[in-house]
Amino acid sequence: MADKTVKNPADANGITRDYLDSILIEERIIDATTASLETEILGQKFSTPIMMPALSFLRAFLPERENAMIEYSRAAMNMNMVNWAGMTDNEDFGKILATGAKTVRVIKPFADKDKVFDEIAFAEQNGAFAVGMDIDHVFGDDGGYDVVADYPMGTQTKEDIRSYVEATKLPFVVKGVLSVSDAVKCAESGAAAIVVSHHRGRMPFAIPPLMLLPDVCKALEGSKVEIFVDCGMNSGADAYKALALGAKAVLTGRAIMPPLAKEGTEGVEKQIDKMNRELAMLMGYTGCARTEDISADALWLNGKKLG
Ligand SMILES: Cc1cc2nc3c(=O)[nH]c(=O)nc-3n(C[C@H](O)[C@H](O)[C@H](O)COP(=O)(O)O)c2cc1C
Repeated sequence: MADKTVKNPADANGITRDYLDSILIEERIIDATTASLETEILGQKFSTPIMMPALSFLRAFLPERENAMIEYSRAAMNMNMVNWAGMTDNEDFGKILATGAKTVRVIKPFADKDKVFDEIAFAEQNGAFAVGMDIDHVFGDDGGYDVVADYPMGTQTKEDIRSYVEATKLPFVVKGVLSVSDAVKCAESGAAAIVVSHHRGRMPFAIPPLMLLPDVCKALEGSKVEIFVDCGMNSGADAYKALALGAKAVLTGRAIMPPLAKEGTEGVEKQIDKMNRELAMLMGYTGCARTEDISADALWLNGKKLG
């Protein structure tokens, strides 16, 4: 049996955690005031730049909750946050939308493109906030195309992405971008936003999203593409560092699962409230009254300023 105390050097989650924790923050206290977390995301105002994660199959992970996706969606609705939904069928996605949460519908990179178009159409007709695809879930552990819930995944070309963008009036978001070249392809395909992410370490030795983020921001400078980040966004400090390095907003992820398991919607709200307070505190200490004021100028890495 594997010894869990021994660190796996290929584990992107561990590499990402170490990188996040190695970034330090300097203080700008003189003239500083309390901060507002209000953030405009894809043209609408929300109370925080922290968004709910795109999760799925939660019955397997959290057997104690009857419908955990709906429960976290309710928390997003109550806290005026952007909500995300991972793989689910149209019927269950309809129930998530019925919570009233402004929800981004993340569609798997199905080999069957008709299924992608069908889910895009359902999302648009039923009032989703945006629609997108986690393009980094194409391959399984054996290097072949993965099969999820009996559906084979398949290669997605730049033209495929463009065809999804053109199939809907909703903003189209590409989740799972982890290189400048993919980010540029998304921009050229007309995507409204990207999520810089390694999808909880699907690929061994994946670069931490925040290490790549400044290069992605530079490459997309002047475009209208909004840049989001996830992986390891467990605290307000993690969110602060992502915003400082150029993200417009972040998705928290597995951090909501233990409170969701324990207390459902209320547990998730407590966790987000904690993260919001931590972010507001760091904004206060660094003289940032608004989320747009947060900049890499306050960050240090290995004894040198990052910005
Ligand atoms: C149980 C579980 C299910 C997930 N399902 C999806 C999914 O269906 N679609 C997707 O894009 N990402 C999915 N993800 C990935 C998350 O959205 C996120 O990218 C990943 O967990 C990294 O963030 P974290 O380190 O904050 O957990 C899932 C993650 C978990 C833990």
